[in-house]
Amino acid sequence: MNDTVRIIEMGARDGLQNEKTPVSVAGRIAFIERLLDAGLHTIEVGAFVSPKAIPQMVGSDEVLRGVSHLPGEFHVLVPNEKGYETARACGAKVVSVFTAASEGFCRANINCGIAESIERFKPVVARARADGVRVRGYISTVLGCPFDGAVKPRAVADVAKTLWDLGCYEISLGDTIGVGTPTKAKEMLRAVGAHIPMASLAMHFHDTYGQALANLYAGMEEGVRVIDAAAGGLGGCPFAPGATGNVATEDVVYMLEGMGIKTGVDMSKLLTATNEITALIGRTPASRVANALNAKKRKANSE
Ligand code: HMG
Ligand code: MG
Repeated sequence: MNDTVRIIEMGARDGLQNEKTPVSVAGRIAFIERLLDAGLHTIEVGAFVSPKAIPQMVGSDEVLRGVSHLPGEFHVLVPNEKGYETARACGAKVVSVFTAASEGFCRANINCGIAESIERFKPVVARARADGVRVRGYISTVLGCPFDGAVKPRAVADVAKTLWDLGCYEISLGDTIGVGTPTKAKEMLRAVGAHIPMASLAMHFHDTYGQALANLYAGMEEGVRVIDAAAGGLGGCPFAPGATGNVATEDVVYMLEGMGIKTGVDMSKLLTATNEITALIGRTPASRVANALNAKKRKANSE
């Protein structure tokens, strides 16, 4: 366990896409600057999707342009060629395509079945390869679907292999509705790991049922070393009923640092980023660690 873990920060995309209060382009750029300052260098900054489907991500072009000069690796979601064209016009160097392991969620989220989603990705990946752009692949509902129920590890492995063979450099496995438990997470990762090196897998676990840290630890035992997390535990997918945010970055950093695994993240600066963005959208952080540290700070200030 005692090696490095790469954190991909989701706060500015997965975190904000499901919030009732939209955050302005300037607010999103300021948030990303805070995250960078806290030591998070790989950040998903927006999505080039239908503005009718996700109005919160309108302006992602300005956000990407607004941060491109900063030292970091910036990712954006693209569901199809149209999204890729916008991403490319803004100078994107990494794009993420996204599908699911279950047909029900795939249709609700991107209005097509899994096989058709792959067909939509083919020209994206071909153009990205020609442009020298890297493509990350997401699979949602890897541990359960809000529409179809249980999802078999084999179904996840099949989609993962398809994305890998297509040319994705990393496959991010999403427990979209946070229903997984550690043994199920292990079983799913082993099935996917039979086709793809563990080093090329990422865990994208939402914390809806409070299982995300346990599932991440279980995945680390299987050898996975990339974790998607959102500052403050913000967000969720609007097309997954009842879904809440990603595992909180603060909670992941606390766990890893406590295990002697260096993350390069400055917790106090991360807390500032979280406190500012949650104040902007009018809610308290979902992160247990952020809440504990804020309470400690308030007590110290009152003494
Ligand atoms: P569609 O209706 O099948 O597509 O939507 P279409 O090609 O028929 O186009 C319909 C309209 O969308 C047209 O506009 C297009 O121009 C427009 P209209 O003529 O009606 O005015 N359009 C676009 N606009 C901007 N950018 C584009 C684009 N493509 C079409 N790229 C589509 C298909 C995928 C576009 C739509 O369903 C959509 O945008 N869905 C949003 C999906 C989404 O962003 N979900 C949340 C992110 S995924 C997630 O959170 C899960 C993840 O975190 C992992 C996990 O936790 O599991 C990644
Ligand atoms: Mg997600």
